[in-house]
Amino acid sequence: MAADEVTIKVQRFDPAADSMPYWQTYKVQAKPGMTVLDALFEILNHQDGSLAFRFCCRAGVCGSCAMVISGKARLACETQVTAIRGDEILLSPLPHQKIIKDLACDYTLFFDRLKKVKPYLVGKEPYPEREYIQSPKERVPINEPIDCIMCGSCTSVCSMAWWSKDYLGPAALLKSYRFLVDTRDSIPDERLDIIESEDGVWRCHTQFNCVEACPKKLNPTEAIQRQKMKVFKRKLLGRRKKK
Ligand code: FES
Repeated sequence: MAADEVTIKVQRFDPAADSMPYWQTYKVQAKPGMTVLDALFEILNHQDGSLAFRFCCRAGVCGSCAMVISGKARLACETQVTAIRGDEILLSPLPHQKIIKDLACDYTLFFDRLKKVKPYLVGKEPYPEREYIQSPKERVPINEPIDCIMCGSCTSVCSMAWWSKDYLGPAALLKSYRFLVDTRDSIPDERLDIIESEDGVWRCHTQFNCVEACPKKLNPTEAIQRQKMKVFKRKLLGRRKKK
């Protein structure tokens, strides 16, 4: 094997043709700065045109290329082949996802979960003629959660999300937190009702798998715990008011 040749093993599966997934091995000449996504294109364009994988921005922004790279959820476009230790690079789709083909997963359930938390700003009335003004201090709580690129890595490794398709999961709950702490939003109570439900924050068992998996180093577990506190606080205040 040439010194700069890397072995890449890809988990292949075509639900229309295969009864079981299987591993296929490819050899690629590593070039300086070559990412796993570059290597996949090398295979697609020069060795095997049947290989399926997702991508869009190629810059770590769209989240499309999330996959398991040698045992860890990562973005293929942000991971250099030289950064992976070991003799070979193993590529498989995000776990517990419906596979469309090879490394390409079906994100329908992921986005269904996301839609449930109303992942958009519901502005306060009267609506401003131009934008809503927010001070730098008010912006601080959303600085981190807005960096979520919705790659689905966190939800795919959450064992609570595996067992319950109705559980909102870490990505949707991080999104709900992002709007709950946004001073421009007008429906915090409605948002708390959604996350307080049976399939909301209380299903999180603080396993931190989502934190480990996030390629943007975000902390969905912390966002979920903060929302639990908000739900709890609302309950407590409601009880006090009734007395
Ligand atoms: Fe967009 Fe990798 S292709 S994040």
